[in-house]
Amino acid sequence: MEKRIKDLLSEIDSFSAATKEAAEEFRVKMLGKKGEVVELFNEFKTIEPALRKEVGKALNELKTKAQEKITLLKTTFEGTEDTSSNNNDLTLPGETIALGSRHPLSIIRNEIIDIFSRIGFTVSEGREIEDDWHNFTALNTPEDHPARDMQDTFYIQSNPDIVLRTQTSSVQVHIMEDQKPPIRTISPGRVYRNEAVSARAHCQFHQVEGLYIDKNISFADLKQTLLYFSKEMFGDGTQIRLRPSYFPFTEPSAEMDVSCPFCKGTGCNICKGSGWVEILGCGMVDPTVLENCKIDSNIYSGFAFGMGIERITMLKYQVKDIRLFFENDLRFLQQFKSAN
Ligand code: DAH
Repeated sequence: MEKRIKDLLSEIDSFSAATKEAAEEFRVKMLGKKGEVVELFNEFKTIEPALRKEVGKALNELKTKAQEKITLLKTTFEGTEDTSSNNNDLTLPGETIALGSRHPLSIIRNEIIDIFSRIGFTVSEGREIEDDWHNFTALNTPEDHPARDMQDTFYIQSNPDIVLRTQTSSVQVHIMEDQKPPIRTISPGRVYRNEAVSARAHCQFHQVEGLYIDKNISFADLKQTLLYFSKEMFGDGTQIRLRPSYFPFTEPSAEMDVSCPFCKGTGCNICKGSGWVEILGCGMVDPTVLENCKIDSNIYSGFAFGMGIERITMLKYQVKDIRLFFENDLRFLQQFKSAN
């Protein structure tokens, strides 16, 4: 019996478990109901009384050693219990972090910036809270001018001189006041109008304004610039059409259509059968506007244009409801992926 105790002690000492299961097997073997220790205690009852003291002591020691070892094994495997055995492999690649996607309006805004920067346009920013001068008066739209009715404006009640800008054309005025020609810049930004929200209209949306002022700038320059933009944005085969229009700050003024990017001009439900879709307003900067900004209209001329980012995004991605852009529903947003 003493020999078995000795053997078991050295087995306990040298035992090591590779898995949690092996440790459990060891526990059953040593301390289980039919394990070695119980068996030895049973046998102990039968040994000569003279040997009891010594063997009893050794047996207790064996039991304690076995318990200690099992506790030690338990703590070794407890640490790894929650994580799967795969996670012990430090050479495995880490867990992928889900990446967000760019907002569709940002994707198209960046694309517009990209296209114009390739032909030398810089990017300028204005302010969303504007004064009457920059949003209207300097743009040849003095008070009581009927053109003010074209845009439903949010005014600040306590100070009617302050408005939420209704158009990024206001940035034109800042730039022309602050810089000397030649000026070649675009200004993307958010604008506000007091309109009922529907699938086609919103009280907030985004525009990109374009401005080119230099000596000898003609309508042909405007047309060629917009043709280049349209081909880059909607594809090489895209055609443009300029229709006479009216804006207070340009003379002459025009609205521009592109050949429908979906049916290529043959007529579909996107272009309502016409083959054309309107995307922007433009014109030659009215000399009054140049003079309002202290630019000599006898020396300089230029063109301007303004487009709605929502409109172009809706056209490119076939989005049918403008409200989707502002709801931040991930099921909508996750559909858009961009390279930049
Ligand atoms: N500001 C105009 C609007 O919001 C768009 C526009 C038209 C801008 C003609 C221009 C322009 O610069 O020349 O409807």
